[in-house]
Amino acid sequence: MAAALAGSGIPTHPVDVGALVELDVGAPAGGGGSVARAPDGRVVFVRHAVPGERVVARITAATARYLRADAVDILAASPDRVQAPCRFAGPGRCGGCDWQHIDIDAQRRMKEQLAGSHLAHLAGIHQRVVVERVAGDVGGLEWRTRVRFAADGSGRLGFHRHRSHAVEVVDQCPVAVPEVSATGVVGARWPGATSVEVHAGSVSPNRGETRSSATVVARRRGHGGPVRPVAETGLALAPPLPPPPGSVFREVAGRWYRVGAGVFWQAHRGAPAALVGAVLRGLGPRPGERAVDLYAGVGLFSGALATAVGPTGSVLAVEGGKAACADARWNLRDLPQTSVARATIDAGWVGRSMGPVDLVVLDPPRRGAGPELVRALCRARPRAVAYVSCDPAPFARDLRAFLDAGMAIASLRAFDIFPMTEHVELVAILEAPGRGTA
Ligand SMILES: C[S@@+](CC[C@H](N)C(=O)[O-])C[C@H]1O[C@@H](n2cnc3c(N)ncnc32)[C@H](O)[C@@H]1O
Repeated sequence: MAAALAGSGIPTHPVDVGALVELDVGAPAGGGGSVARAPDGRVVFVRHAVPGERVVARITAATARYLRADAVDILAASPDRVQAPCRFAGPGRCGGCDWQHIDIDAQRRMKEQLAGSHLAHLAGIHQRVVVERVAGDVGGLEWRTRVRFAADGSGRLGFHRHRSHAVEVVDQCPVAVPEVSATGVVGARWPGATSVEVHAGSVSPNRGETRSSATVVARRRGHGGPVRPVAETGLALAPPLPPPPGSVFREVAGRWYRVGAGVFWQAHRGAPAALVGAVLRGLGPRPGERAVDLYAGVGLFSGALATAVGPTGSVLAVEGGKAACADARWNLRDLPQTSVARATIDAGWVGRSMGPVDLVVLDPPRRGAGPELVRALCRARPRAVAYVSCDPAPFARDLRAFLDAGMAIASLRAFDIFPMTEHVELVAILEAPGRGTA
């Protein structure tokens, strides 16, 4: 039987799922929460709190080593706490944005703290991280150009609740760009659909086209034709535009990029330009240099690099996705110094197929590149590597591998391209000693 805090009715030991506990909330932790210590000594990952607060939290999951909890009552609020701008945020509600209740500047400080502590603890790198704001959001809202809504059993749209398949039905999403809301998809019902993805961008490949619009792709379990909304909202379902259907066209640094349905593209409206700028500035490409763009997606970095190395240089874009490669070939078709290779990137591929390079862009999925791939890249003796990552933990481990292989960190930048969440984008420039950008 649990003991109780004097007069409070709150148990001190042991705590289990459903129990209420008083917690002093500490540093931010991965997963969107912050760390606290339960009365029974276990670590608690508590969501919906702000570091420095004293809260009453309900335990939502328990293991032998740690607990998860949601702050449900704030006993001593942090000055960084704000009213969540989204009315669907909060304990047990939409699982999309963990930090809606935190001031936007404080969110950036927390990301700096999180990234800095991963670098220190996982890689022994003691470097201050500064998270930069990027253009293209409004106080952390209206930035997401691509939104995948989940459909509930009756075809209403929303988002999954945290660690749940249950759908929190919404009638708007304040982090989405207005073009997503303007499609009206959330006002319609989508019987039979499992998800509806809206991607804002130009729906025309014409280079002079500036009209903003969006494509909508509804998916159902298994096979079957497209799911149509019950109430017609005037939107086009995967419109029969130039191949493949469902593509949008986005302009970055004066070039247009086609992005097919389901193909990777940075979600924040301002992210592609910010990242291209950071990579170009960091690498300082010179005319005639050979560059390789690993995990190239639709060729975002390749397009920018190709212009910089010029017709006497070369850029090899390497990407595993078939549709992404098709987009990359289309996007780079006017740049004869580029080529696109479809390959599964690993250390073996680098050793066998990459050849000598001066510059590398490395933008792997969230899990990172891994030490073997990093070592294989370093054996090719590039002058500089731009390592782009959306997760500080694998980023830190991979940086350690670069340093152990003899490369040095020339610069490290971080960008707030996921406001209202714990996520942050990092760009490290690594240089081979004696072969710097100067
Ligand atoms: C984070 S995205 C980066 C895309 C691109 N650099 C951009 O910024 O738009 C990672 C890309 O790597 C691709 N990918 C993931 N694992 C891969 C692998 N083992 N080999 C090749 N490509 C892979 C994905 O299809 C995706 O396009």
